[in-house]
Amino acid sequence: MSKVGVITGASSGIGQALTVQLANSYSILYICGRKLDSLEITVKLCSGKSAKIVPVAMDLNNKESIKKAAAEITNKEEKIHLLVNNAGQSQRSLVKDTSEEVEARIMQINYFGQVQLTKLLLNALQKAQGSRILITSSIVGKFGYPLRSTYSASKHALHGFFESLRFEEKKNSIFVQFLVIGRVQTQVSVNALTAGGETYGKMDNGQAGGISAEVCAKKIEAALQSNRKEVLIGGKELLMVKFKKYLPFLFYKIAEKESNHV
Ligand SMILES: NC(=O)c1ccc[n+]([C@@H]2O[C@H](COP(=O)([O-])OP(=O)(O)OC[C@H]3O[C@@H](n4cnc5c(N)ncnc54)[C@H](OP(=O)(O)O)[C@@H]3O)[C@@H](O)[C@H]2O)c1
Repeated sequence: MSKVGVITGASSGIGQALTVQLANSYSILYICGRKLDSLEITVKLCSGKSAKIVPVAMDLNNKESIKKAAAEITNKEEKIHLLVNNAGQSQRSLVKDTSEEVEARIMQINYFGQVQLTKLLLNALQKAQGSRILITSSIVGKFGYPLRSTYSASKHALHGFFESLRFEEKKNSIFVQFLVIGRVQTQVSVNALTAGGETYGKMDNGQAGGISAEVCAKKIEAALQSNRKEVLIGGKELLMVKFKKYLPFLFYKIAEKESNHV
């Protein structure tokens, strides 16, 4: 059976490593991002693997671009078996300084764009009967954190929307799985937006000490074999998710102490 996958944010970091990881398990993988030259690098990294890798230009900050990308895929594919909503942009700015434009941009890329793309691909996901939608969330999709206000809000919003979709689409055998990611060594902090919309340009210490994108991709592949609705991936920072749920007093003590350094 021909298996079709779509991975957003495949030009870098987690999405790129995941494309390489899944390239022997799918017949065709459509990989999306703004930077076509970087998507071509992903294609090269998959050489020798069985899947056909097809780069698709898509800017989640541009509704027309999302429509065009979705049409490019659905014009060729009747069924889609996997959609990985992975693309995203982080934030490094205080609420008091952050412009409305930056807030709107983060919500469009991390939330509205993913919703729009998913709705455009939903018919093909339904037709596959047994398809899966992966959502690359974050530990800050589970709690708020200084300098991440809108980023955290966008990841929380994904949980509300896609959990609702899971209930609605159970009858069409679509399964939604959340990846609650901790720290992974990627360009996510370098590419994060500052208060005025420039990129932060620095690798955070936390990021630098995270697991590799390749290890993260292996764990995502393992998650795909399970029916767990939510999978935590990362290092000891994942404890904060457990603390928030089971020992909230400890969570607030640690998070407030860390917030004093901001
Ligand atoms: N790394 C971590 O520690 C960590 C932790 C928790 C969650 N996450 C999440 O993991 C996901 C992947 O991030 P990463 O760590 O791999 O970071 P990354 O290396 O910065 O990769 C981000 C990816 O998102 C794509 N992207 C960004 N803006 C886009 C836009 N406007 N339109 C389309 N694609 C866009 C980028 O592609 P182009 O530049 O080509 O458009 C790139 O492929 C994100 O959702 C992030 O929030 C990461």
